[in-house]
Amino acid sequence: MSGLTKLVAGNWKMNGFSASLGELKAMIEGAKTLSGVDLAICPPATLAAQAGWTLKDSTIALGGQDCHAEKTGAFTGDVSAEMWADIGAKYVIVGHSERRAMHGETDAVVSAKASAVLRAGLTPIICVGETLAERDADKTVEVVSSQLAGSVPEAAGKASFVVAYEPVWAIGTGRTPTTAQVAEVHAMLRQALEKRFGAHGRTIRLLYGGSVKPDNARELMSVPDVDGALVGGASLKSADFLAIARAAA
Ligand code: 13P
Repeated sequence: MSGLTKLVAGNWKMNGFSASLGELKAMIEGAKTLSGVDLAICPPATLAAQAGWTLKDSTIALGGQDCHAEKTGAFTGDVSAEMWADIGAKYVIVGHSERRAMHGETDAVVSAKASAVLRAGLTPIICVGETLAERDADKTVEVVSSQLAGSVPEAAGKASFVVAYEPVWAIGTGRTPTTAQVAEVHAMLRQALEKRFGAHGRTIRLLYGGSVKPDNARELMSVPDVDGALVGGASLKSADFLAIARAAA
């Protein structure tokens, strides 16, 4: 066990309309009775400002799902890390596999985005994870360690950041790796971070993501070096998100 306070972060992806703010309010209420766990919700950009107001003074932090590497400029459709900071966000997810696969984000792009998040004074949640073909070819450790090396910028050596291991084949599929498979990757991530950053590497939270649900959260959260969860679908419903948060507390 790493002994770090666990973080449960909800990634709403491209889900959520104004009506979903009610769900957020229910989460805030439910989270009042929870202690010993950090919580965050990453809404779509359209809801971000309103979500920021709703979450203000609550025990749930606001997070972004992505950002541009530059601070401002002619980048139609993009949002910068400083803009996330401006509305009170604490975290920004970078390098989610959906961004890597659908928007061609390389490790270098992810590293630049993570640097931008640090520049803005926020905490990047840097995602890594193998595809099913890579796992079947026994390349999981190789792929994930190479993503980690390329996606975590040098500046992270002196800053707070989070790594999320999300096997691509477990995302939105209802399939999860065995606890032994999760333990193997998280041990490798911990070792790599300690090798690169020394004692600082022991302070980095390693989240597991991919089909985390109320009924499997407790088991996944008990795996050594799993310091929380990055939750997709189950973070859209307050009851499910709170049940997962309770399992991590
Ligand atoms: P699901 O929890 O819906 O599988 O999504 C995981 C994820 O991609 C979180 O970033």
